[in-house]
Amino acid sequence: MAQSCPDDASARPTDQPGRVPLPLLTADITPGRQGLTCRYRCGNACAHEAPNLSDNEYFGDVLARSLSRRGVLRAGAVLTVAAGAGTALAGTAAASTTSSSVPAAAGVRLPRGLDYEPVPVNTADAVVVPPGYESNVVIRWGDPVVPGAPEFDFENQTAEAQAGQFGYNNDFCGLVPLRDGSGSRGGERYLMFNNHEYTIEPLMFRGYDEENPTDEQIRIGVEAHGLSVLVVERDRNSGRMTAVLNEKYNRRYTGTAEFVLDGPAAGSDLLKTSADSSGTVVLGTLNNCAGGVTPWGTFLSGEENFNQYFANAAAVTDATAAERVQRYGITEEASGRKWERLDPRFDLAQEPNEPNRFGWIVEVDPYDPKAPPMKHTALGRFKHEGATIQLAHDGRAVAYMGDDERFDYVYKFVSDEKMMRGESRRAREHNRTLLTKGTLYVAKFTGDSPAAEIDGTGTLPADGAFDGSGEWIPLARGDESFVEGMTAAEVYVFTRLAGDKVGATKMDRPEDVEPNPKTGHVYLALTNNTDRGKADADRTAPADEANPRVENKHGHVIELIETKGDHTGTTFGWSILLVCGDPDDPSTYFGGYDKSQVSPITSPDNVAFDSHGNLWVATDSGQALGINDGLYGVSLDGPTRGRTTLFASVPVGAECCGPVVTDEFVLISPQHPGDLDDASPESPASNWPDGPGTQPRPSVVNIWKVGKNGRPGRIGQ
Ligand code: FEO
Ligand code: CA
Ligand code: CA
Repeated sequence: MAQSCPDDASARPTDQPGRVPLPLLTADITPGRQGLTCRYRCGNACAHEAPNLSDNEYFGDVLARSLSRRGVLRAGAVLTVAAGAGTALAGTAAASTTSSSVPAAAGVRLPRGLDYEPVPVNTADAVVVPPGYESNVVIRWGDPVVPGAPEFDFENQTAEAQAGQFGYNNDFCGLVPLRDGSGSRGGERYLMFNNHEYTIEPLMFRGYDEENPTDEQIRIGVEAHGLSVLVVERDRNSGRMTAVLNEKYNRRYTGTAEFVLDGPAAGSDLLKTSADSSGTVVLGTLNNCAGGVTPWGTFLSGEENFNQYFANAAAVTDATAAERVQRYGITEEASGRKWERLDPRFDLAQEPNEPNRFGWIVEVDPYDPKAPPMKHTALGRFKHEGATIQLAHDGRAVAYMGDDERFDYVYKFVSDEKMMRGESRRAREHNRTLLTKGTLYVAKFTGDSPAAEIDGTGTLPADGAFDGSGEWIPLARGDESFVEGMTAAEVYVFTRLAGDKVGATKMDRPEDVEPNPKTGHVYLALTNNTDRGKADADRTAPADEANPRVENKHGHVIELIETKGDHTGTTFGWSILLVCGDPDDPSTYFGGYDKSQVSPITSPDNVAFDSHGNLWVATDSGQALGINDGLYGVSLDGPTRGRTTLFASVPVGAECCGPVVTDEFVLISPQHPGDLDDASPESPASNWPDGPGTQPRPSVVNIWKVGKNGRPGRIGQ
């Protein structure tokens, strides 16, 4: 069943001054994403009952240390920017410089790095950037990644070609510097890593028959998933960034690539199949959503809605096994893409353990193409949004992670070993083992206000903040389980059930969970959960102080501060920074900042930080507000705390993914452009990025400021 749709966004004005009127308060929508995305990204997860059947307690009125840090109400930026069409290249626009906006009220200093003219919310079929900024497309779906791969030909796709080309629906994007002396004069090179989360076959193939995909369409779909590693070069003079075909580094890991399972559950009977009696080698990575760059220079990637690729869970009749399959939401019937017709490992009737080999955090060493890509069992198995690393004071690695499902949990992992500094082979090999041994925890949040004051409307409790304390509950360390009735291997492979047993807090779809490198504070994007407190939902949970809004269409952002700044510890404090939505909606909260002075924002998903410590939030479901998704700068400190300003918006039907924010450039990944329910190759809803008459192509976009003499300037300054 498809989600119901927001009203016709394409009909909304894009050029009127002031804030675009938002349909939020009247539209009957949940949660705002189009049906194609819902079906193909997450197997219509939101149309099914949430899989968490546990009766975990909900916190009440336990008094705890308040971490309220509300900012002082001040006037800030006035968002009366007139949308412009200063086209820099096909499908790209800069907001007009003729705006009547002012950056901030007199006397209020904008944080360093956030001084740009906010882009007005809009519905343009373009990437829209602030006045004075430019952008270029770095790489698109189908562009060659591996040297020798053919140029993209939409009308004549093959699996063989796709295996060497940039995959579909790139989500996470990460960069590490490449200092090997290659590159042109004035150029700087990076290794770029991209997740190709999922495919949308009805937009990829003309006349696609969902009930009868061809074998080649299935094979193309498998190869369009996975990961890309490639060299990119940025021209310091022009600001442009381009992909480089490189024999040594460029590679794809698709749905058929070999991955090694490591850590304490590797080799467990739960991970063995008829094709892999060792339980240690898996073919493929699927539905890789967000990720992270480790301090030791590798990339992490989260396998998210892996459940949708598997069929026939009804064949699992053993009660314990059936409970496990249900908890991960695997369908009882045929899968959406019908891969099981071509490869029996996707059929639970034939390979009941194959799904256990997905849902992990993957690690790839971009500098060492010979190093096998890993799946780390020590970090647990769930619908991993991603994982990001904070080095503790003692050098141990702490991974923060979210399980993106309604009413699921937030986790962290603390390594046993410390990171070895330096770039020697010995250091690299040691550091690649950091995520194999350690302790896995799940989070329990406790509010400090009386439960009666959390009424589900978003009204702040009497102490003026949604805030409280929290506990990291240990689940397992190495071969030792801390969960009654579960072995360590069971904890790692069925981590959701372990979280259920220890009373973890049911959250509103935890997406990115990421520490701010400047402060160590951790930010949790809770994207939305329209079943929260819903009267007619079979599986629901009431509003609580960490998830304070019923039928939470627009999500919120939590700031988590580890006790004494110790990331290896087991207690923390927290407070809600943003309750998202239309600022005119009384249920919203912007860190205490003046709500008339912020950009509307919905469904926070991916987060990033700039070198100044500002938060950047990319969104996924702008349609819930009748606007395109985008990347927002968010002030965290001082009188502007909670000020959200739109920096870039993505084309019609797209979600904004993969933000990378540096002093010189910003990368975003407009994912699934043109993904509207009535779209098809015959009638595309978007022609981005190549312009009229072309098919939409998910891409990576580079944005920079045009500074003095036309050379790149500093972002947000
Ligand atoms: Fe793939 Fe949780 O977004
Ligand atoms: Ca409170
Ligand atoms: Ca995401």
